[in-house]
Amino acid sequence: MPTVEIDGRKLEVEDGTTVIQAAERLGIEVPHYCWHPGLSIAGNCRMCMVEIEKLPRLQIACNTRVTDGMVVHTTSEKTKVAQKAVLEFLLINHPIDCPVCDQAGECKLQEYYMDYDRQRSRFPLPEKVRKKKAKPIGPLVVLDQERCVLCSRCIRFLDEVTHTSELGFYQRGDHVDLDIAPGKVLDNPYSGNVVDICPVGALTSRDFRFRARVWYLERTESVCGACANGCNIEIYHREGRIYRFQPRLNPAVNHYWMCDEGRLSYRELQSEGRLTHPLVRGEDEFVRSTWASALQAAAGRLRDLARAHGAGAVGIVVSARASNEEIYLLRRIGAALDARMVGVAWSPPDASHDDFLIKADKNPNTYGLRLQGLPLDGTLDALLTAAERGELHALVLHRSDLTAWRQGARAALERIPCLLVIDSDQRESAEFADTLLPVGTHAESDGTFTNHAGRVQRFRTAVAPPGEARPGWQVLGELLALLIGEPACATAEAAFAALATECPSFRGLSYAELGGEGRPAAARATLRVDLPNGGRP
Ligand code: SF4
Ligand code: SF4
Ligand code: FES
Repeated sequence: MPTVEIDGRKLEVEDGTTVIQAAERLGIEVPHYCWHPGLSIAGNCRMCMVEIEKLPRLQIACNTRVTDGMVVHTTSEKTKVAQKAVLEFLLINHPIDCPVCDQAGECKLQEYYMDYDRQRSRFPLPEKVRKKKAKPIGPLVVLDQERCVLCSRCIRFLDEVTHTSELGFYQRGDHVDLDIAPGKVLDNPYSGNVVDICPVGALTSRDFRFRARVWYLERTESVCGACANGCNIEIYHREGRIYRFQPRLNPAVNHYWMCDEGRLSYRELQSEGRLTHPLVRGEDEFVRSTWASALQAAAGRLRDLARAHGAGAVGIVVSARASNEEIYLLRRIGAALDARMVGVAWSPPDASHDDFLIKADKNPNTYGLRLQGLPLDGTLDALLTAAERGELHALVLHRSDLTAWRQGARAALERIPCLLVIDSDQRESAEFADTLLPVGTHAESDGTFTNHAGRVQRFRTAVAPPGEARPGWQVLGELLALLIGEPACATAEAAFAALATECPSFRGLSYAELGGEGRPAAARATLRVDLPNGGRP
């Protein structure tokens, strides 16, 4: 393995490592535009030039491989002159847009100008080459050609990752334009990624632009909940409002990318239909209740009906949108009530999917349901038939909209004397509810999902649930505590710890162990769970 010295610090690296990668490992910044670790090397921006001893000219760090004994200087006088010159060159025709540019705060041209350039332009303003501004090129992306530094990241992404090649360079010299290919629209399912990788304000998001200055936003690590892939994301938010999702690197799941459907799924998390208060059925309509009285009434009714009518009198429908912690608590509630447990993993019949990231299963935790041994879908028909026959005396619907998902469910729900709905939104099935308990989405709670490949991944609270809604683990923990007369778990982490103790598939895992990238659950062969009744189908 070759050893390299960069700015006086030595490092041993694997064969094939480039100077920019070695410098990154040492925490040394080499400025760059065209290099992106998820794409091929273009070597066209020249911003990453460094001085390498014994070589006559400066070299680009992104395309120079480390050799044994190499000595590199990233801040020498020669390097500084080159960095300044490249920036002056890139800025010759750049518009004076910074005050009105939505990339401000995350623009590599602004940042590098301040760090490596800081000289006045020697180019007369009227002579700047004018190009197209604010040109929509797809449903998610706006192009400003004047701001483009011609790094070709977007072109390489579309050539190498999506293989759709919508963008290209046209013309020559200082008239080169980045533009959409004739007759094409940038509307592939991953188009939003070009906005993330554009280092300047040439490609901006139609969804996000001018909605918030990025320096006002906070970031929280999470995972996308819009399909079973579980792409790692960052949630950008401020004062309780989510502004955007962006992908977060996880080589085992989504690399640097995410799909547009997932990117925009933050909108559904803050829709008009959110439940904000516990509601109970009044004379004509639902009326607000307090948490204490809604929970106590629900627990009392469920317990009474279970006692009066015996095993299987209560049903619990658990959606694959529930977290692992919620599923665990629902199973314990089911055990306390001797209830029939049914898992539901519903997706639209025309759900999109491909062989890259997008999964047809639009639930984030179908694998998690299976790991906890919950019977899926097939048993729902039996439950609905029992309800139609009047054999089901109470039903808990958790994040599940049966009337929308299953034909004939209305007739069944109508016959159930006690329906408890626990959900983030007021959906169709809520029409039949006696009690509605509002719970937070995965952006409003801590918890874990297990993705399609069995990887257990954490999501973290980014914003508070609206109104009086509470995290799902908390609501279920309190309901369980009322049923079994034990203290409720204090945190989502405590619920996960209990799950990891009881369920072999999660054994050895903890929030600390999962970290930012998650860990695989135990193999499918261990699909079983040690709960008091083992889960009654
Ligand atoms: S639009 Fe952005 S990513 Fe594409 S070539 Fe220009 S600067 Fe690079
Ligand atoms: S592929 Fe699935 S998990 Fe990934 S961003 Fe898209 S919807 Fe979300
Ligand atoms: S980053 Fe090396 S030439 Fe562009």
